[in-house]
Amino acid sequence: MVKSLLLLVALLAVWLPGGPLAGGARAAEAGAGLAGACQGCHGAAGAGGQGMPALAGRHGAAELVALLQGFRGNTLPATVMGRIARGYTEAEIAALAAFYARRD
Ligand code: HEC
Repeated sequence: MVKSLLLLVALLAVWLPGGPLAGGARAAEAGAGLAGACQGCHGAAGAGGQGMPALAGRHGAAELVALLQGFRGNTLPATVMGRIARGYTEAEIAALAAFYARRD
């Protein structure tokens, strides 16, 4: 229930005109700065490897937002991502998602 609600919010954020991700390019730019903190584990281009899941080319922005919110809210099992995701605001999560959704 909570999970599907989060997904709905994430989808609305991406698709509603004027939603926080409406300026996808702008959000992706902000995400590029934040993604530096992810590269040590997920690879410089988000390609993953060595046991780390790939972020680029695998998920749409809404899915990435839902994953990060799931880690943040402890509804998704995680070793480290719960702690990491809790360090980001909603806007930062949206920006990170926009950034990785545009990479391939
Ligand atoms: C210390 C290493 C580390 C760092 C830094 C890190 N991650 Fe992760 N990430 C992981 C691991 C390990 C997993 C698998 C879930 C778990 O065990 O926590 C994961 C899973 C994910 C997933 C789910 C991918 C999938 O397909 O299931 C997303 C999305 C994600 N990370 C995003 C990020 C973002 C965005 C950042 C930067 C803010 C980041 N991660 C920083 C290690 C890391």
